[in-house]
Amino acid sequence: MDEIVLKNGVSMPLLGFGVLQMKDSKECGQCVLQAVRSGYRMFDTAASYGNEQAVGAALKRAVKDGMVCREELFVITKLWIQDAGEAAAEKAFEQSLKRLGLDYIDLYLIHQPYNDYYGAWRALEKLYLEGRVRAIGVSNFSPERLTDLCMNSEIMPMVNQIELHPFYHQEEALRIMREFGVQPQAWAPLCEGLKQIFSNKVLRQIGKKYGKSAAQTALRWNIERQVSVVTRSSVPEHMEEDFDIWDFSLSEADKKAIEILDLGCSEIMDYGNPAIAKMFNRKKLCDSTL
Ligand SMILES: NC(=O)c1ccc[n+]([C@@H]2O[C@H](COP(=O)([O-])OP(=O)(O)OC[C@H]3O[C@@H](n4cnc5c(N)ncnc54)[C@H](OP(=O)(O)O)[C@@H]3O)[C@@H](O)[C@H]2O)c1
Repeated sequence: MDEIVLKNGVSMPLLGFGVLQMKDSKECGQCVLQAVRSGYRMFDTAASYGNEQAVGAALKRAVKDGMVCREELFVITKLWIQDAGEAAAEKAFEQSLKRLGLDYIDLYLIHQPYNDYYGAWRALEKLYLEGRVRAIGVSNFSPERLTDLCMNSEIMPMVNQIELHPFYHQEEALRIMREFGVQPQAWAPLCEGLKQIFSNKVLRQIGKKYGKSAAQTALRWNIERQVSVVTRSSVPEHMEEDFDIWDFSLSEADKKAIEILDLGCSEIMDYGNPAIAKMFNRKKLCDSTL
């Protein structure tokens, strides 16, 4: 699998496995183990997903069983809004690390651009300088918030994880990230299965030329834009299919055809809508959900 080098020299896989909505610990653990078997080495969780413990236990088991060694894994987790602010973020990091059962995290992200994320960022900078995390970044930061953070911090974010798929290209956001050397990472690269993406005519026809599915075409498209992707599945066949995207390339004509699919807005989460900021700010994590 191809990797990308972040601005601090750390290599990050271009394709990873996400565990959003995998609330059931047993099922989550089984999916993570299956994903390791299918070849995934990057795992994306978050304090707010409530499954850091299950992810950590499954990865520990994969290492113990000799399927993989810790150094090959790239583990991402994220800080939730209520833990923004310097002291709270430091504490929340220790708790995430403990739940994951790890000595260090590969990439630690501020999950949402809300509350005191400047304070949180100072905590992340400190953790990075102490070697507790190999890389630090943000998620869901709009171009102007990212610009502001980059211009007012000692260490710039290395990654910004945002929604990116064939129906939402976000070219301007990518341009700003490139300007500051921030690596884009796609969440929902399969549009969470919405808009009938798996039977989309354009994606299917392009994929057919290479013996690939619409899902594989969508993932490959982001990767060819040098966007790292994290995708999710509970089905072993889908995990393997999504991982099998390294033996074909899209032509310029394919990319032009995909350009037309861009809606220019999100149908999953409109970060310009104050109701979204309210919804996320109201979401509180408690011990029983973690
Ligand atoms: N930072 C953030 O705010 C944020 C937000 C959302 C997501 N994320 C991260 O991004 C990851 C991926 O995004 P996502 O989970 O929202 O959605 P996604 O990966 O775009 O789509 C997942 C859906 O696609 C289906 N699927 C996957 N491969 C398939 C295939 N080959 N054929 C048919 N169906 C397939 C899965 O169903 P099956 O189980 O049936 O395969 C699942 O319903 C998350 O798990 C999470 O780690 C981050």
